Amino acid sequence: MCYNPFQLRDKTILVTGASSGIGQQCAIDCSRMGARVVLVARDEERLEETLSLLEGSGHCYYKFDLNCLEEIEKLIEKIKKDVGRLNGFVHAAGIEKTLPMKWLKVSDYEGLLRVNFLSSFEIIKCLARLGVLNKESHIVLIASILSVIGRKGLAAYAASKGAMVAAIRAMALELASKKICVNCVSPGTILTPMMQKYLLSLDEEEYKKRLEGFPLGMGETVDVSNMCIYLLSDASRWITGQNFIVDGGYTIK
Ligand SMILES: NC(=O)c1ccc[n+]([C@@H]2O[C@H](COP(=O)([O-])OP(=O)(O)OC[C@H]3O[C@@H](n4cnc5c(N)ncnc54)[C@H](O)[C@@H]3O)[C@@H](O)[C@H]2O)c1
Repeated sequence: MCYNPFQLRDKTILVTGASSGIGQQCAIDCSRMGARVVLVARDEERLEETLSLLEGSGHCYYKFDLNCLEEIEKLIEKIKKDVGRLNGFVHAAGIEKTLPMKWLKVSDYEGLLRVNFLSSFEIIKCLARLGVLNKESHIVLIASILSVIGRKGLAAYAASKGAMVAAIRAMALELASKKICVNCVSPGTILTPMMQKYLLSLDEEEYKKRLEGFPLGMGETVDVSNMCIYLLSDASRWITGQNFIVDGGYTIK
């Protein structure tokens, strides 16, 4: 067998947002690298579809709405009982809303913070408190380049992503004694259902400008999942508390 420090054989990885886009690609690629995958998302039909796209066996899913922060502890307890300990967690569940700050309602930014940031915080807290993560596990949160740059209409979304990047530094320090690594991946524009919906709302000129911002063109979900695979694998055992920008060169201009 060839030497491959990036493989995920004998690892069990929890993936939220696994029914679509980046999360679905992460789930598929984790299974291709040998992992057993535990999927979490809201839509049962699409979870079934993701399950059917996975390689290998032993995968399962949990239909769950991450708005229900108070129910997360029960979900994690159930996962521990059903599948045992985990070796990795990818938080790819997320929502986006583009609206000038003055039009945002409290419920808008509360919702963004809840799904994008607070649910990942609560999951990591429960994983740690209930001892669900094995030693040398890896946690990856999907943030966004909005965690490091500004864009009009995205103040609340950016806040939810920036919060992740700030929180993982302290989390990484707290979990380092168990050799658990915690990192963020911050993608630029990736063609997923979420992004397609947004791009359709742009006029021709805005769309052209957006496209021209990416020296390497727009990204695909595999560009993000490949980075996640690396951060979930033993190859990244000495990397923690970092925010990795995956944006085809957008932020270097
Ligand atoms: N697509 C991009 O260009 C892009 C760029 C930067 C960051 N991101 C981030 O990547 C992540 C994935 O985005 P995507 O483009 O794949 O989106 P997507 O809409 O294709 O997928 C989002 C996933 O999150 C899940 N989800 C949403 N709300 C949920 C809730 N309340 N409870 C449980 N699951 C919920 C959905 O079921 C779905 O599986 C998001 O956090 C997004 O902010 C995306």
